[in-house]
Amino acid sequence: MANSPSGDSVIGRVVRILDTFSADRTVQTASDIGRRAGIPVSTAHRLVDELVTAGVLERDDEHRVRLGMRLWELALRGSTALRLRQAALPHMEAVQAAIREHTQLAVLEQGEALFLERLSHPDAGANITRVAGRLPLHASSSGLILLAHADPAVRDRILSQPLRPLGPGTVTDAATLGRRLREIRRSGVVIAPGSIEAVSTGVAVPIRDAGSVIAALSIVLPRDADPAPAVSALQSAATRIEADLKFSFPIQ
Ligand code: PHB
Repeated sequence: MANSPSGDSVIGRVVRILDTFSADRTVQTASDIGRRAGIPVSTAHRLVDELVTAGVLERDDEHRVRLGMRLWELALRGSTALRLRQAALPHMEAVQAAIREHTQLAVLEQGEALFLERLSHPDAGANITRVAGRLPLHASSSGLILLAHADPAVRDRILSQPLRPLGPGTVTDAATLGRRLREIRRSGVVIAPGSIEAVSTGVAVPIRDAGSVIAALSIVLPRDADPAPAVSALQSAATRIEADLKFSFPIQ
């Protein structure tokens, strides 16, 4: 792959272009993309034009650019996330109907909890998770499940970094978090009041495939709600999802 004079590969620059889009920044000009991606403006315009032609980006009437549907199509095609989401969705709906609060499915992705699905109820309380959004492993209930079962190298890396407080209940001391993760592996459940937001309690359980934890299923409850019904709804849904995963063929 041809490199620029600075040694930057085309693929590296394209990935940086795509990375400038976020849940809060969905539309940008090519010049803004170039500035944010650290790419010369003329190069950014050329690469954006090529990505628009390929359908990876889309341009609106005002010449501003957003992520294209083709990217979504390619991302879902054959993805392992799709298999998991398909197996989980009917059981997430059952949890959501019973508990009537937000129900989420998350996986570990590059040191964070990435949310693949979120079902909401009109009367549900506060919740900052979004589909395709991320939360820190040490603070969210899903993240704590994923971190407890992560590769020891991932755990060591997270525990050696500063643990930023997000809510009044976030565990920010590495030794305390290490003990908490051992307890989560033993109990198989996280109940995390105020860890992300003062007003909410995150409740999460693991989902296993072929013996390994591959995802976390969670509910965000109002802080004063009794977590017990959520724990049992999540545990029975996780058991059913695991059974369905056995019969869903890995995508080749
Ligand atoms: C959690 O997973 O602990 C969590 C997530 C989102 C919130 C609150 C709690 O808004």
